[in-house]
Amino acid sequence: MRRTPALRRLVAETNLTTNDLIAPLFVREGITEPQPIVSLPGVMQHTQDSLRDEVDKLANLGVPAVLLFGIPLAKDAEGSESWNPSGVVQVALENLRSDVGGEMVLMADLCVDEYTSHGHCGVLDAAGDVDNDRTLELYAKAAIAQANAGADIVAPSGMMDGQVARIRRALDSTDHSQIAILAYAAKYASAFYGPFRDAVDVTIEGGGHRKSYQQDPANSREALAEVRADIAEGADAVMVKPAGPYLDILTKVRDIVDVPVAAYHVSGEYAMLKAAAEKGWIDGDAAAMEVLTGIKRAGADMILTYLAGEVAAKLD
Ligand code: PBG
Repeated sequence: MRRTPALRRLVAETNLTTNDLIAPLFVREGITEPQPIVSLPGVMQHTQDSLRDEVDKLANLGVPAVLLFGIPLAKDAEGSESWNPSGVVQVALENLRSDVGGEMVLMADLCVDEYTSHGHCGVLDAAGDVDNDRTLELYAKAAIAQANAGADIVAPSGMMDGQVARIRRALDSTDHSQIAILAYAAKYASAFYGPFRDAVDVTIEGGGHRKSYQQDPANSREALAEVRADIAEGADAVMVKPAGPYLDILTKVRDIVDVPVAAYHVSGEYAMLKAAAEKGWIDGDAAAMEVLTGIKRAGADMILTYLAGEVAAKLD
């Protein structure tokens, strides 16, 4: 049953398709040319114009969704550009909504870390710890700004307790009850986010990590508790992140929930693959298909990946 390509195609249990892919994209305020990101070969910090071109290309390839991250000119202690109606992501959402209409799903990462001067995912208390409950109020404001600007889905990634409930309430009370929440539910404190932090110009103060709010890689039951809590609070879909080192978590989450499950193949996973391919140590195209097929086989209904464009160009 494995002898020919047709036989293998006939019995394949998992089929990766373009419909499974979400492209994460970066848009930076105050630049006139797109800037390459050294640790993410092939990925750019976009200008508003180059972002529109990129999304047009992805739409033509059939990629159903993009996830936006913004890099503002000005950062402050609370990350106030994340809810400024003329902030970089809000402007991008308005532009893209007018370009793509209903043809593409526009998602916005909802967090303040790209916007805070200290690089944390929330506002800090006097001791320098993230103040969970005050941070929820900032997320509520950012959610409303993103929905006003045209997001279909907001994706809270800060791992604050109660964030999904607070965002749901904010959206419902501002006429945005149709806007969905994709919760970064099981998000681990991972070394694989390194290139992303270059991409968004973030340096984290106070030890350089987020271990006090992101999950410990040693824990799996805890991930299920996080996922159940987010669904109880109103999450429409949940995410496991990173993907490759956490396939066991993905499978367990898929088994216990009935909402769509996303997996984020993160920056470090992408960078490793690209670096090894560049050295000629692995076949990059084959490895990309294998990694994404593995993530789907483990239980992902959708995969956020910097490989989205190049893989979509190869799938039919
Ligand atoms: C937080 C956020 C991060 C990523 C997505 N959203 C960084 C972090 O939590 O430290 C990482 C994505 C990647 O590495 O590709 N806004």
